[in-house]
Amino acid sequence: MQVLGIDIGGSGIKGAPVDIEKGEMLTKRYRIPTPQPSKPKSVAETVAKIARHYAWDGPIGCGFPAAVQHGIARTAANIHQKWIGTDAAALFSEATGCPVKVINDADAAGLAEMAFGAGQGRMGVVLVVTVGTGLGTALFTDGKLLPNTELGHIEIDCEDAELIASDAARLRDELSWKKWGKQLDTYLTRLEGLVWPDLIILGGGVSKKYKKFMPYLTVQAEIVIAESFNEAGIIGAALAGVP
Ligand code: BGC
Repeated sequence: MQVLGIDIGGSGIKGAPVDIEKGEMLTKRYRIPTPQPSKPKSVAETVAKIARHYAWDGPIGCGFPAAVQHGIARTAANIHQKWIGTDAAALFSEATGCPVKVINDADAAGLAEMAFGAGQGRMGVVLVVTVGTGLGTALFTDGKLLPNTELGHIEIDCEDAELIASDAARLRDELSWKKWGKQLDTYLTRLEGLVWPDLIILGGGVSKKYKKFMPYLTVQAEIVIAESFNEAGIIGAALAGVP
């Protein structure tokens, strides 16, 4: 079965048709910068543009950078505040004319990693952390997702962890890999103390540069890099879009 997977991020909206049995993108991804301000109407138009680019008339799954409860956005850390309370699934279905399901973007990436990547076949507690503009988390026990954990917003020294350990924080404060790597380690150590994962999978854009920061990570849990790097968001969104 083919599902159009769309990963909505704070800076870019990316999509590609996905073979959901193989967990593979069928074409190169198509990316459009996230409209600014990222209000519901303009984001929905961008999602529709991606669907039109592929002349799509089948099911669509979207990963969205917020807590998403039954299609409704509940938070908005890196997206316009107007999203809070918006039925994203209904809005995107109307804009594209296709059936659309929407889930949290880190949950989407986690689903892809568990099905086809670094978490394949892993029982116990697996924590997927996506490190990009935001800090996303997906928590699995024996392969089953507990959605919308939002552990990127725990507090460290009275600050939102996202402001310390995201890739945006590294760029904003022009941190060396060593300095940032240690901040990421502080965050992961706190997380470890809260959920005691057997495995941590690190994903998101920065995971490609893992050689630069892995030496600074001291968590006890086994820690690996996401296998599909940044494509997990699109592949997992497609998995969630199955009607
Ligand atoms: C949001 C999460 C999202 C993460 C990654 C955070 O700011 O609260 O919902 O998963 O960013 O995009």
